[in-house]
Amino acid sequence: MTQDKSASERMEKIVSLCKRRGFIMQSSEIYGGLNGCWDYGPLGTELKRNLKDFWWRRMVRERDDIVGMDGSILMNRQVWVASGHEATFSDPMVDCRSCKSRLRADQLPEKDGKLHCPVCGSFDLTEARAFNLMFKTYVGATEDESAITYLRPETAQAIFVQFKNVLEVSRKKVPFGIAQIGKAFRNEINPRNFTFRSREFEQMELEYFCRPEDGVELLEYWLKERLKFYEDVGISSDLLHVYKIPPEERAHYSQGTYDIEFHFPFGVQELEGVAYRTDYDLSQHQKASGKSLEYFDEETGQHFVPHVVEPSAGVDRTVLALICAGFCEETITDQKGKAETRTVLKFHPRMAPIKCGIFPLLKNNERLVGPAREIVESLRPHMMVFYDESGAIGRRYRRQDEVGTPFGVTVDFDTIGENGPSNQGTVTIRERDSMKQVRVPIGELKSFLVDRIN
Ligand code: GAP
Repeated sequence: MTQDKSASERMEKIVSLCKRRGFIMQSSEIYGGLNGCWDYGPLGTELKRNLKDFWWRRMVRERDDIVGMDGSILMNRQVWVASGHEATFSDPMVDCRSCKSRLRADQLPEKDGKLHCPVCGSFDLTEARAFNLMFKTYVGATEDESAITYLRPETAQAIFVQFKNVLEVSRKKVPFGIAQIGKAFRNEINPRNFTFRSREFEQMELEYFCRPEDGVELLEYWLKERLKFYEDVGISSDLLHVYKIPPEERAHYSQGTYDIEFHFPFGVQELEGVAYRTDYDLSQHQKASGKSLEYFDEETGQHFVPHVVEPSAGVDRTVLALICAGFCEETITDQKGKAETRTVLKFHPRMAPIKCGIFPLLKNNERLVGPAREIVESLRPHMMVFYDESGAIGRRYRRQDEVGTPFGVTVDFDTIGENGPSNQGTVTIRERDSMKQVRVPIGELKSFLVDRIN
């Protein structure tokens, strides 16, 4: 099998697992869907929440120099004029005169040295023109020019325009950062690769404000921090690639940008950009609003517009990377010597949607079911657990393997002292990846699990 074929088959299996087990579903599916929009089901929502919570913990709660904010999605149109998005946030597009497809001008295939339509093959294409990626909308009852604004295409601008307010209320000194997680919208011409390029997605962005002379060094610092973050959520460095954007490809105001890329089955693609944006954004807003966005340095008595280093990550792309990195099919031999395929999502326990499955060995035995249910209730305040009493125990393990649950606790006859007193009050804990089991007293179960999922 060629590499391309096996990669696309792997991707198909991942998409199918996501739907089958309630990670990610097509938006508005019963009406035929809406291209570029996705819904997260029960397990996908937990996975996404775990990722966002951990990002927040790392970027805000565990640091003294970063605070959070939560800006509105709709903002004054002037924000997008000043940021440059209204004039330049666009892709070059051409129309095919034969089949009427609208196509990205920079992604057209070539035949005999001439660009052609990938849908019908025609060479009859219009000239390229800019197509703005922002979703336009109207605020209020009148749909005229004065009511126009846009759904935000990035969360960053809310941080820039609130920079002064947050600085004052948080009483921070540079270097300091403002972090935000939230929805962003882009009318992508060609949404593709499952959730990778969506029209509605979430970003996790940090704007880290600093003195101009510290920008270059802080860019390197943030690249390292962010790479460590991916390791800490279970994405190994072998699956990551850092692309240093050459000067001619960078935005004109950037003095350095790295893309952190991931080896998706469909290719090596961007997960996050880490960019040194100089004082561009704050200066633009200062100029356009007429309000000072300068920082006063008490130590030196200087006034200056801070420079910014921005690590900007996609939530949905990272969720997809976690699923792709974790997806694994193993051939194992069951107790009867029969080979079978075990599908496992090898999530890091801190990312796993369900932390622990809890199983009474038999479902119709109240002496087993009672303690199992008590364990569920005792663990619930501390983690997401799942109780399952139906089917053979091996099958119950497999169901949890497939959704990435790192631990399975079984209440058996030893637990209730039926095989003698030595194991009474203990349960087995099965570890997902090694499939090894250990016995642990029920009283130690919570700390055993909490230690491993945080
Ligand atoms: N404030 C900087 C900024 O928005 P970007 O590279 O355009 O930079 C940052 O976006 C991140 O947002 C990307 O690395 C990606 O993870 C995510 N992202 C951007 N467009 C996306 C899309 N159409 N679908 C899913 N995620 C997207």
